[in-house]
Amino acid sequence: MKKPLVAIAVLGTILATAAPVLGLQKIQANEFKPSMACLCHQEMIDEWTPTMHAKALSDPIYRAKRADAIAATKGALAPFCDSCHGPVATMGGEDPGALEQISAASRQGVFCDFCHQVQGTRVPLGNASYVVNPDGTKRAQIKDPEAFIHLAEYSRHHTRAEFCGMCHNVDHPVNGMHLEATYTEWKASPYAKAGIVCQDCHMTPGPGPSKPRPGQAAMGGPKREDIYDMSFVGGNVALGNPKAAQANLKAAAKLELDVPRSAEVGKKAKIEVRVTNVGAGHYLPTGLTEVRQMWLEVKALDSGGREILSERRDFGTVLKDKKGNYPAELWDAVAIYKDDRIPPQESVTQEYELAVPDGGPVTVEAALKYRSAPEELAEKAGVAVPVTSMASVAKTIGGDGEAAADSAGGGLSKTLLAIVVLGVLGAVVGAVWWSRARNRR
Ligand code: HEC
Ligand code: HEC
Ligand code: HEC
Ligand code: HEC
Repeated sequence: MKKPLVAIAVLGTILATAAPVLGLQKIQANEFKPSMACLCHQEMIDEWTPTMHAKALSDPIYRAKRADAIAATKGALAPFCDSCHGPVATMGGEDPGALEQISAASRQGVFCDFCHQVQGTRVPLGNASYVVNPDGTKRAQIKDPEAFIHLAEYSRHHTRAEFCGMCHNVDHPVNGMHLEATYTEWKASPYAKAGIVCQDCHMTPGPGPSKPRPGQAAMGGPKREDIYDMSFVGGNVALGNPKAAQANLKAAAKLELDVPRSAEVGKKAKIEVRVTNVGAGHYLPTGLTEVRQMWLEVKALDSGGREILSERRDFGTVLKDKKGNYPAELWDAVAIYKDDRIPPQESVTQEYELAVPDGGPVTVEAALKYRSAPEELAEKAGVAVPVTSMASVAKTIGGDGEAAADSAGGGLSKTLLAIVVLGVLGAVVGAVWWSRARNRR
């Protein structure tokens, strides 16, 4: 009983002097304007509004975990949590415990004026290492800004993954253990080597590094060859932009299933499932992986529809505390007890053996699923957190010669592709015919 109290007291004294320990600057919250003030960038306001950045401080799932952290450490941890989820409130010395009592800008979590008044980062990177300069100058990647409402200047920092790494690397504030390491995962990946940064996937429309994207940085501004959007889509279907998050999750993984064409009676059939991280620039899952749920479900049904195999593999991390107990909460964690995540562009395989009593047919189904928070946390926060199917595939063993039939989405998308190709060809032929007919006139 005494030891945890001592630990809490120590943590308390370290964090009570939050600003210096966290290395945070002191600012006035009113040096930052709420997003509504950025009205020449209405399109970006619309992109940013549904994001988890906009909700980082008010997010009910965050509020629920923050309350647990406060209860476990007598409030000592709150400024640490808030330093990334509510940077301006924390630097401004406001208490985001009561959201309605803090300034309108602070309440918006990670918002335009915060990101665009960032001037650099402290080292080491991570744990809210941002350095701001709230002098009214807005900083971004544009080398020849033509803004007239405010000053604007080029910032190389905004073009680099390190900008995101300031918050997307979370270490335990006392023992230094890596709790979230999305930036570090990316840094070691083929994407970093190829120069593809977070911004290329998360600040462009749709999944994947889609560039360049011509457009205007502001209403009435010059046409530019390549601008970014403020959509920051991840995998949060419950609270973010659900359609875009689902598309991202579906683009992240490829699922392959190998089954024998036929099964010999009395022998076991070998089933192999392979999951590849084809789309994420970091581990799959990444970030808060002791909370996120991603799992592989493999089922086999015999000709009578009876389930003859049902297996599950959970991806993610399980944390342990200093006594070796698991699962441990973020703040009690000293190490990772179990780690099953898929690095970028790598695969994991899982094998099963199956007795096929009468030679088949047996239908084998594999599905990869994702849920951003477990039932218990979702209920506590009062949020419905849906399950998203990231990928699925089904094949048949034995039966009437329909051996190893692939009934995955691939079949459908090939048909769709054929229709689209035919459609485009038709349109081209039509256009050529029309323009010829016109020229003849
Ligand atoms: C999480 C931080 C973050 C937030 C929040 C954010 N931005 Fe940005 N913004 C960036 C970064 C980083 C870039 C540069 C991207 C690059 O070049 O790789 C950028 C680029 C821009 C640009 C330059 C033009 C363009 O689109 O590329 C403008 C203008 C802009 N942001 C306005 C806004 C507005 C308005 C909001 C709020 C509605 C906002 N930003 C929210 C980080 C942020
Ligand atoms: C160094 C920055 C940083 C600190 C400090 C931090 N977080 Fe976070 N937090 C993040 C980032 C980045 C994400 C998004 C990661 C992801 O999507 O997996 C996140 C996501 C979360 C989520 C998931 C929200 C949802 O809707 O799914 C919860 C809950 C959360 N944090 C709680 C906390 C608590 C409690 C603390 C304090 C003990 C804390 N965080 C401290 C950066 C931070
Ligand atoms: C000031 C800290 C901070 C910075 C800087 C930051 N983020 Fe975040 N980001 C967060 C927090 C906190 C969350 C989680 C909010 C939550 O879920 O409650 C988050 C969540 C996200 C998510 C998950 C959204 C979802 O729907 O699951 C993505 C993607 C993301 N950030 C991308 C970026 C990119 C790209 C950059 C760099 C251009 C960046 N972030 C910079 C703090 C930050
Ligand atoms: C090649 C494209 C790509 C790059 C590069 C990339 N991401 Fe992602 N990211 C994805 C995809 C796809 C997902 C959705 C699957 C998932 O949740 O991991 C995702 C998910 C996320 C999430 C939400 C994770 C969750 O489950 O809550 C965060 C946070 C995030 N990315 C941050 C970053 C940061 C920070 C960087 C740079 C250090 C980065 N990403 C680089 C493609 C990318």
